[in-house]
Amino acid sequence: MTAVARTRADLASARGQWAASGDSVAVVMTMGALHAGHAELIRRAREHDDRVIVTDFLNPLQFAPGEDLDKYPRTFTADLELCRTEGVDLLFAPGPSEVYPVGDPVVRVAAGPIGDVLEGESRPGHFDGVLTVVGKLLNLTTPHRAYFGQKDAQQLWLISQMVRDLDVGVEIVEVPTVRDPDGLALSSRNIYLVDADRMQALALHAALELGVSAASGGSTAAVESTRAHLAESGVKVDYVSLVDPQSFDLMQGSGPAILVVAAHVGSTRLIDNVRLHVSAGKRG
Ligand code: PAF
Repeated sequence: MTAVARTRADLASARGQWAASGDSVAVVMTMGALHAGHAELIRRAREHDDRVIVTDFLNPLQFAPGEDLDKYPRTFTADLELCRTEGVDLLFAPGPSEVYPVGDPVVRVAAGPIGDVLEGESRPGHFDGVLTVVGKLLNLTTPHRAYFGQKDAQQLWLISQMVRDLDVGVEIVEVPTVRDPDGLALSSRNIYLVDADRMQALALHAALELGVSAASGGSTAAVESTRAHLAESGVKVDYVSLVDPQSFDLMQGSGPAILVVAAHVGSTRLIDNVRLHVSAGKRG
């Protein structure tokens, strides 16, 4: 049975009971529009923790003017159904005035230099908004573990770094990206893709796979072959980069890496990534 909490008081009351019984608590943070990727996060949480909280909060702070906040899918009834099916204990679904009772916060978490590159360059202020709400939701839910998907690689890195830098007492658990059988990474924004766009969106995963194969020839080969496939498929490339998984700095040498891409398919902006090993090639 999934209980629904709309207020901090209701959340605190459920959380208090679990604290008394010594249960371990997990949180899965979402903006609603739940899909099989979220279900996988919940299942991983259920495997390790006694209680699972899902937060469903469409955070205005992480959307810039002109982004898709107004048309972002809102599917609360289906979200609650998914939570029930997956055995979620509590769905915390507050409104903006519950999360930000005195309006937009004046003091926010600053994402630092990694918040300004890649996604951050295209979406200025986005990661400050993400980290601020994640910090607040961690304080409100006080979980032992928080589960995040590798699909949002830069977000995951920044949240992990915030937890380290600010000594937040929570373990961050990374969960691999869930894909449709044809390779498309699951995302709430896939709902925007009409049939022709969806076909074109497959180019992201195909390009990443080509990049992984090309990585035996070095970092430049990996990036160039990924970019070439995206360009041929007609999607509008925003970026293709290799980053160091430890520092999230751009990587040019060899070793473990994350190949990250962002592209516009029709009017929808999609991101994807893959973890790989880059060999020392002729040019890097
Ligand atoms: O990944 C998301 O859905 C959001 O960025 C998050 C982490 C729930 C914060 O609003």
